[in-house]
Amino acid sequence: MAAARARAFENPFVYGEVVPASAFVGREAELDRLVRDLVSGQKVFLVSPRRYGKSSLIRRAAERIARDGVLTVELTVSSYSSYLAFLEGFARAVVAHTGPVEGWARRLREWLRGVRTDVRAAPDASRGSGAADLAFPGIRSARDEARLAADVFALPQRVADLRGRPVVVALDEFQDVAQFDGGSVEQALRAAVQHQRDVGYVFAGSEPTLMEQMVSPRRPFYKAGPVMRLERLPADVFAAFVERQFATHGRPVVAGLGEAIVDLAGNLPYDVQRLAHELWDDTGGLARPLGLEDLHRTLGRLLGEQRLLFEGLWQRLTLLQRATLRAVVFEEGHELLSAATRERYRLGGPSSVQSALGALTRHEIIQRDEGAYVVVDSLFREWVARTTY
Ligand SMILES: Nc1ncnc2c1ncn2[C@@H]1O[C@H](COP(=O)(O)OP(=O)(O)O)[C@@H](O)[C@H]1O
Ligand SMILES: [Mg+2]
Repeated sequence: MAAARARAFENPFVYGEVVPASAFVGREAELDRLVRDLVSGQKVFLVSPRRYGKSSLIRRAAERIARDGVLTVELTVSSYSSYLAFLEGFARAVVAHTGPVEGWARRLREWLRGVRTDVRAAPDASRGSGAADLAFPGIRSARDEARLAADVFALPQRVADLRGRPVVVALDEFQDVAQFDGGSVEQALRAAVQHQRDVGYVFAGSEPTLMEQMVSPRRPFYKAGPVMRLERLPADVFAAFVERQFATHGRPVVAGLGEAIVDLAGNLPYDVQRLAHELWDDTGGLARPLGLEDLHRTLGRLLGEQRLLFEGLWQRLTLLQRATLRAVVFEEGHELLSAATRERYRLGGPSSVQSALGALTRHEIIQRDEGAYVVVDSLFREWVARTTY
């Protein structure tokens, strides 16, 4: 009873982390396709801007795949501080599927042909049975690393053979392999994975331009497998979900509130959940259905909390970048180079607008999405619209 009541008041909106199944909406077609491709051993590229839901989609796919007995490995490339640390993490995650530590440590030494391998059981129970820290202390030079990489990247197929089951490897924030001496890592991985018939891979990346370059001609991953581009969720699906979450957790809302939230959040998945989450936090114990005035009060609070940050961001921009950003906001990212837009916002020639757009993109203030420029943070967009001239 107490537990049920606690759950009813728990915030049903989640942002800033992989969403649990209870806060995950839509993506049915993408999920089906990803699961199907991975189970059949494809090498899938999953590409979208940050915070569109790649990691959440991968988690859902991994859960579904694991239920069918497939062995899954999830790694976030960007969390490793070096190539060697990544190889250690990769090897540990893959061989952990072959049983208890004693067994896999021995097997790993066999498979890695004379590479010195230190394995220490990790007392950390949260990493599950078989958790252990693994290090390759003998690896010193880039040559050693390259030789080790070829053996480490071969491990998934070895495990698949040993266990007689398919393996799926998810490498999230994959664009960061470029930082580990890019070219050679891409090459080593590509060379290894192309022969692994029982291992599906998903390489997910949140820098669409870097990821697109990676699958372009003359790069190792060219035509290595399907490229899935994750777009925003359909606005009406997301809006209905938001209203349903409020209602089924005991907070009725006026019709249209979901649509207003999705609209204000620019329909960016993270921003929608953030606005809904914060609105929920602001409106406990209300006796009437939540309405637009509540939403606007929450929005006002959030903008107030971010004011100093946004002012700082704005002040670091050049005048031309500020004017260009205003054009992005008010023209909704379209036709920014047209004579009419340039005149209205006093932007000067097309090439200077181009370079301002480039600088705003590099600062991660705007990004290209479905053919238009959008402001990455919908709160900043709202702040620009309300407080700048
Ligand atoms: N399918 C979804 N349903 C509901 N919210 C989502 C969904 N996908 C993403 N989100 C929201 O976006 C946030 C970022 O998702 P995440 O999977 O971390 O994106 P990415 O990996 O692309 O950066 C999540 O915390 C959640 O608030
Ligand atoms: Mg992610």
